[in-house]
Amino acid sequence: MAAKLKAAICGASGYAGAELLRVLHAHPMVEVTAATSERSAGMSVPEVFPHLPGYAGITLEQLDAESLAGKADVFFMALPHKTSQPAVAELFRKGKLVIDLSADFRLRDKKIYELWYKTPHTHPQALGKAVYGLPELYRSKIKKARLVANPGCYPTGAILGIYPALKSGIAVSKGIVVDSKSGASGAGRQADPRYGFCEINEDFTPYAVASHRHTPEIEQELSVVAGQKVIIDFTPHLLPVNRGIISTIYLRLSEKIDTASALSIYRKFYKAEPFVRVLGEGQIPSLKNVKGTNRCDIGLKANPRTGSLIVVTAIDNLVKGAAGQAVQNLNLMAGFPEDTALATPALHP
Ligand SMILES: NC(=O)c1ccc[n+]([C@@H]2O[C@H](COP(=O)([O-])OP(=O)(O)OC[C@H]3O[C@@H](n4cnc5c(N)ncnc54)[C@H](OP(=O)(O)O)[C@@H]3O)[C@@H](O)[C@H]2O)c1
Repeated sequence: MAAKLKAAICGASGYAGAELLRVLHAHPMVEVTAATSERSAGMSVPEVFPHLPGYAGITLEQLDAESLAGKADVFFMALPHKTSQPAVAELFRKGKLVIDLSADFRLRDKKIYELWYKTPHTHPQALGKAVYGLPELYRSKIKKARLVANPGCYPTGAILGIYPALKSGIAVSKGIVVDSKSGASGAGRQADPRYGFCEINEDFTPYAVASHRHTPEIEQELSVVAGQKVIIDFTPHLLPVNRGIISTIYLRLSEKIDTASALSIYRKFYKAEPFVRVLGEGQIPSLKNVKGTNRCDIGLKANPRTGSLIVVTAIDNLVKGAAGQAVQNLNLMAGFPEDTALATPALHP
């Protein structure tokens, strides 16, 4: 049997990092050999996450790309944006496979990154080599990549919901509205009073209206699909649940088309996709059916009264929206079967 690929997780004490540890535990070709945390350095993984007893042999260490480089072949970077940039660039320079879960390498235009993230991009060379890690759009490029920019959680659900309609031409690229609702783990594990139990429980509120940083990422990819600049309205909401994102997307139809025909177009686009499920007519996705899975569920309905196509997508933000998609990308980069460690059914209830 071939030697296992050694993997390091930078930012392992966060929600995305912990989910990477959970998913990789089931991976027969990967062994986690290093994991980082600043605040919990020196503690073992199960001391921080008792739900991960299988990692008793891994002691969390501080982020130091130079010393980590010798410990692994592939690096999952689950760090805040800006912190990720120098570490990703250094590991990439050293010839490692790198999958960055932050936003630092997703926007191909450095100026757009700097405008929305209000920080300079100081590693344009690595940026130029990064492949946007949405396998449904970029599978062949990901297979050859050494640096993959794992998509944001909202963009994953939004792009997968819009792509077939724009690509097939049944919807126009103007007037797109993406209305998304995310569980609180999307904000990360850091202590912030806005995400405390009493603040979130029994409340429901939009945030970052007309200004969320995932907007240019969604627009970047839809512009590629449409072959012209696409501008959208995107409104995220904070849902009082732990995991999951529902996106309700409003598209303007370019022709008279009924729900069954639109569904058959979506099915054709995704027929070979292991992690996209187009639901039957009359079925609408829900969070509980994707919780813990790497799947994006899609349901839709044409509305002849308004000329709209209403598409609903559901993902688990920590799996298809982060760690699961990162492992899917690793599987493609390393030549493993794409669904290795990812065939988990949903947690129910
Ligand atoms: N949560 C999601 O649903 C989701 C989905 C897609 C993408 N992402 C992206 O994935 C990344 C991680 O997100 P998350 O939700 O897991 O965040 P998180 O829970 O806040 O975790 C952040 C991790 O980064 C470490 N860290 C923070 N500041 C650092 C620094 N200056 N130097 C080194 N390490 C540092 C933290 O370590 P300590 O605090 O232990 O020191 C922790 O391990 C972010 O870029 C996020 O945008 C998140």
